[in-house]
Amino acid sequence: MRKVIHIVGARPNFMKVAPIYKAIRARGVLHQRLVHTGQHYDVKMSDVFFSDLGLPAPEVHLGIGSGSHAEQTARMMVEMEKVFLQEKPDLVSVVGDVNSTLAAALVTSKLAIPLAHVEAGLRSRERYQPEEVNRVVTDRLSELLLTPSRDADANLLEEGVPSSRIHFVGNVMIDSLLSNQEKAEQLSTLRDLGLSARQYAVATLHRPVNVDDPKLLVGLIGSLRDVARRLPLVFPVHPRTRKMLTEQGWLAELERAPGMKLVEPMGYLEFLALTSQARVILTDSGGLQEEATALGVPCLTLREQTERPVTVEVGTNEVVGTDAARILAAVDRILAGQGKQGRVPELWDGRTGERIADLYARSVGAQGQARASA
Ligand code: UD1
Repeated sequence: MRKVIHIVGARPNFMKVAPIYKAIRARGVLHQRLVHTGQHYDVKMSDVFFSDLGLPAPEVHLGIGSGSHAEQTARMMVEMEKVFLQEKPDLVSVVGDVNSTLAAALVTSKLAIPLAHVEAGLRSRERYQPEEVNRVVTDRLSELLLTPSRDADANLLEEGVPSSRIHFVGNVMIDSLLSNQEKAEQLSTLRDLGLSARQYAVATLHRPVNVDDPKLLVGLIGSLRDVARRLPLVFPVHPRTRKMLTEQGWLAELERAPGMKLVEPMGYLEFLALTSQARVILTDSGGLQEEATALGVPCLTLREQTERPVTVEVGTNEVVGTDAARILAAVDRILAGQGKQGRVPELWDGRTGERIADLYARSVGAQGQARASA
């Protein structure tokens, strides 16, 4: 049987790989291996997602950990090359835009192994944003470009990618969301935090551009404190953000702010329970903008632009930047019942993993192979 290797490494990868992995398993026409780079290694940033999403433990764990971009990416490349040479996959599948995605793209291209990129074609056009670099390079090196929205197809065509390589399959992360929402909402998460449905806000912050610069970070946490005065605000703190808040001596004060509920990073199901029943979400995450759109929950993006324009054009997302007055005005509009109404974008239907599995099987010739041996 032909073999696909899936690369995962960081938190936003796991909910994208799970539906593809399960759909391939259900079809039984391809061997698959899960390789974890170890970019994220905390139990709360990684392990809990495997159990929540019903993913098996990775067959290979590279144990890379943190480091500068060059160190981290280079260490991943060295270890991945060994795995690919030994495993001889027919296809390597990567998702998203993290350093693990880029490392796999570079290694496969040197070994002439076909690469599939899930979530291809998104562009923020911020030249020096690490994720943008990862996206552009990975797309350049991919044989199969699987896009979540039509704008991504247009970006790739504009960059000269042949249309035969571009496949609009929909948003695979939404498969995970739809298949887990009911289970998540049965958890006691809201009760445990003393919250009632639609009576609280959720915030996340982790982009280097927002949290590594103390001047920007202090402004953003000031805005979050103002939001927390209006309605309870749950703020699960990413390790990068916690480190910065601790170094600046702001953590204890923020913990005591009225209405503020600072918590550790949450598991997939717990966090979904929280977001699906929130009144408003404030975030600089890309994935959360999409999840909010799928859930129909108003979302305020604390960045200057988004690489996911469909969440604004069709969904519930508003890009409000980092200016305090603008953020609070948007929150007040939502609390007054004048938030943006959205629809669910095309093909965010819970079946993207199945479409990808069929495409992979076709592209490596596995269906013909299965028929021939039947
Ligand atoms: C990475 C991705 C980003 C994604 C984010 C989701 C890149 C370039 N960035 O950013 O696109 O949105 O994951 O979380 O790939 N740390 C821990 N425990 C961990 C992992 C990290 O404490 O399990 C701390 C370390 O101090 C580390 C820092 O967080 O230096 C940043 O981790 P890193 O993986 O470099 O990037 P993220 O900011 O998590």
